[in-house]
Amino acid sequence: MDPGRVPTVYIETYGCQMNVADTELVLGHLAAHGYRRTTGPDTADVILLNTCAIREHAEERVIGRLGELARYKRRRPGVRLGVTGCMAQHLRERLRERAPHVDLLVGPDAYRRLPELLAAGNVDPHVALRLDPEETYADLPVARGAGVRAWVTVMRGCDRFCTFCIVPYVRGRERSLPGPVLLDQVRALAAAGVREVVFLGQTVNAYHDGSWDFADLVRHAARVPGILRIRFTSPHPSDMSERLIDAMAECATVAPQLHLPVQSGSDRVLTRMQREYRAAEYESLVARLRARVAGIALSTDVIVGFPGEDEADFAATEALMRRVHYDSAFLFKYSPREGTRAFRWGDPVPDDEKARRLERLVGLQETISAEINRGLVGSEVEVLVEGPARRPAGWMAGKSREMKTVVFPGPATAGALVRVRVESATSHTLSGAAATG
Ligand code: SAH
Ligand code: SF4
Ligand code: F3S
Repeated sequence: MDPGRVPTVYIETYGCQMNVADTELVLGHLAAHGYRRTTGPDTADVILLNTCAIREHAEERVIGRLGELARYKRRRPGVRLGVTGCMAQHLRERLRERAPHVDLLVGPDAYRRLPELLAAGNVDPHVALRLDPEETYADLPVARGAGVRAWVTVMRGCDRFCTFCIVPYVRGRERSLPGPVLLDQVRALAAAGVREVVFLGQTVNAYHDGSWDFADLVRHAARVPGILRIRFTSPHPSDMSERLIDAMAECATVAPQLHLPVQSGSDRVLTRMQREYRAAEYESLVARLRARVAGIALSTDVIVGFPGEDEADFAATEALMRRVHYDSAFLFKYSPREGTRAFRWGDPVPDDEKARRLERLVGLQETISAEINRGLVGSEVEVLVEGPARRPAGWMAGKSREMKTVVFPGPATAGALVRVRVESATSHTLSGAAATG
């Protein structure tokens, strides 16, 4: 790199919304140390992959991508290739056997050290993988993308140790950012034109900063002028306190929408997953939410093919999904993760059987989503406009309070609230026209 030239950084992000938020954090931190973001690897001095370890497939994608990116190092010596995030933390130095050209391995609690590691010249490789139960990055600047919606990380890590899940091992212990710091962030976002804030954490509703719990944080944020909607993800069912349900019911700013991962409808499987709740408790929570928060839209995560899941367990999951009638669902085939407790139970459900179960649930959920959305035809939804729709030309897109994608003919301004009368619906999108009068 020429001395005096502004160094550039390019980041690709994999995994969940928390990783997307971490990328914004890394970019903000590096910008404060003189780095400029670039949109492609071909002009970057530093190439980072911010990675995910949740399923094997996520890791394989990154290994493949690292192989491709190696050519930028061959072409331009001096380019640094780094792996940050959960997969760096999970595979550690073993990652270098699969991807020998990696120069940096930086775990989720070591981003503060990135500028120092990059300035230190070439060591082979730089490894920063210490988990730090105190690190919240509360004082670091975040380079958030433009838009009407912003994601705010309110807690990091997870203490739940569901037996299938790698997150507690790669992200470390649960810790919360101070409420007043978060409230300042929300105020600053409102001043910058953000209209919707999504609070993030792996068990976001376990938030506690020593004086505020999550219900307190939500109530404070709901009063910030300019913020029209507040959402949060992902709450753990066992941390859904009555105080939080009250806050959702009483604050008009809190959107009637919740992603509530169930994982399985079988108590036998839930027990082995160590999810803490049983199916009946989960469904009673759903009933309380529906009774208190009118029209609440619910989504979930489900794993099929967990070790020991038999036909009856699977049928229980299918039945629960029919009863709860989710607006949408993320459905996954179980992927064994080394280091987790379930890993020692092997992977006894054959892949074609997992695929069959997955396909059944995908079909079921498509039907339910389409049915719920078709039921909205003729009604009006409130849309927070985000920008032009992908198609047709001249149409605008945004989200309803229930987090459904809505498209309608413009004109309309990003950030505005528009009432749209729904004229047609698919399992994924509502379309209609702005309501007049
Ligand atoms: N903290 C969130 C989930 C984070 S991971 C929660 O507890 O709700 C997102 C989803 O990935 C999980 O809800 C689960 O459905 C899925 N998942 C996690 N580990 C998995 C594994 N080993 N195999 C398949 N899916 C997994
Ligand atoms: Fe993983 Fe369970 Fe923690 Fe969610 S609550 S991140 S599934 S260990
Ligand atoms: Fe993946 Fe890490 Fe998120 S493992 S799902 S990127 S917390």
